[in-house]
Amino acid sequence: MSTKRTVHIGLLGFGVVGQGVWKNIEKNRQALEYRLGASLEISQVVVKNAEKKRDVAVPAERYSTDPARVVDNPDIDIVCELMGGTGEALELTRRALAQGKIVVTANKALICEHGEELFATAHANGGHYFYEASVAGGIPIIKTIREALVANRFKLIYGILNGTSNYILTRMEREGLSFDETLGDARRLGYVEADEALDLDGIDAAHKTVILTYLAHGKWVGLDQIICEGIREITGDDIATASELGFKIKLLAVIQRDFSQNQLSVRLHPALIEKSEVVAGVDEVYNAVSVTGDVVGTTILIGRGAGQDATSSSVISDIADAVFMLQGAPSPVISEEDATLYRELADGLELTPAEALKGRYYLRIQVKDEEGVLARISNILAAQHISLATVKQKAIAGGTASLMLTTHETEESSVLAAKKDLAAQGTVLADPVCFRIFNPSAS
Ligand SMILES: NC(=O)c1ccc[n+]([C@@H]2O[C@H](COP(=O)([O-])OP(=O)(O)OC[C@H]3O[C@@H](n4cnc5c(N)ncnc54)[C@H](OP(=O)(O)O)[C@@H]3O)[C@@H](O)[C@H]2O)c1
Repeated sequence: MSTKRTVHIGLLGFGVVGQGVWKNIEKNRQALEYRLGASLEISQVVVKNAEKKRDVAVPAERYSTDPARVVDNPDIDIVCELMGGTGEALELTRRALAQGKIVVTANKALICEHGEELFATAHANGGHYFYEASVAGGIPIIKTIREALVANRFKLIYGILNGTSNYILTRMEREGLSFDETLGDARRLGYVEADEALDLDGIDAAHKTVILTYLAHGKWVGLDQIICEGIREITGDDIATASELGFKIKLLAVIQRDFSQNQLSVRLHPALIEKSEVVAGVDEVYNAVSVTGDVVGTTILIGRGAGQDATSSSVISDIADAVFMLQGAPSPVISEEDATLYRELADGLELTPAEALKGRYYLRIQVKDEEGVLARISNILAAQHISLATVKQKAIAGGTASLMLTTHETEESSVLAAKKDLAAQGTVLADPVCFRIFNPSAS
């Protein structure tokens, strides 16, 4: 007779990820239970609409619309919050953690907005809050930073954290399609979140950036404290010009720490990055995270950043950690006292203001196609001590032209001032568009 313990799991939410967790536990049950030394049972599944047809069949007695059957049920060992949102998910997560339960989540928006409180509640009540699936889907980046690279301090973490925007940029680059054409395809394929701003304005990737910042540096930053710019302004001309100059355009999360100044720059924005960088070659819906530690050097992880199977792989990995804990293994996450110490990592750590950034920049300026226009633009840039590295002009119908420029190293404050001056110039027809050129080696 088996002496294996049965661990009872309750799922809050049975959509894309929830059904993936069920399906993949069933698929690999034997190997999984062998590895964990425990039996797994998904005893309760809670949904909003019990009438909805699902791909995965659940025995009727385990299926309900009552979250209390998971959250307040003493027989449930692990609560998986896979419903999303920051309303009811917050209230239910609070309630489960206050009862000392282990909660596993994929909900990046919730952690970003309420992580500080929820981790504290978990620590105060002897529960735990696991979140591997909240950043970069199937890539085990949380475990990698928290455990595998624990010997390090992190000078630079950067990468691609939103598969939808990466898909759009890849199609624009490969097929010369416009942003709108590609967005239409991404919508048809179901890649775009219902709230499109999450993908297109960078908010989803910014949520993940905030989580990685806390994990690596012990500092919670608000979305309103960081640069967060999406991909809507990128055109085919930008991508083509970048390509001619040896760059790709990617939506990059950048978490850069200057240990000598105790400054931290956290940002999420489109950037030109040299094609020779590994991260630049990561296309389609894939995500990539490059982590530079002072001991290990640079490690790059690449994988599927979303989707049912990849995301459920990470949720099941957290379930596995929870099962080990329930069997008496020490917690793989920081304890309450350590959490206080952990936050001391961030003592005196200041966020670098955007204006203090330095680097190279790409500018696209729409102008009247007339004599002397380039000289006028150059003068405005020169007045801000910005020198040009490359200039390309493309005539557009109707007597207008696009100027695509790259600068030598300069200060962001100068670029911001120049943008204002340019916009006020009579020959400039629209607000100039500007992207940073990111060089990881210069960090
Ligand atoms: N999908 C991905 O690739 C992916 C990747 C990484 C992280 N995530 C995160 O994973 C979480 C789940 O995403 P998903 O794609 O699986 O979402 P989803 O397909 O929309 O599923 C959400 C599930 O939660 C249920 N639900 C919503 N509100 C509820 C409520 N008040 N009470 C009970 N059940 C409720 C829904 O019930 P009904 O089915 O009855 O409506 C549905 O089953 C989100 O936080 C998301 O950000 C998703």
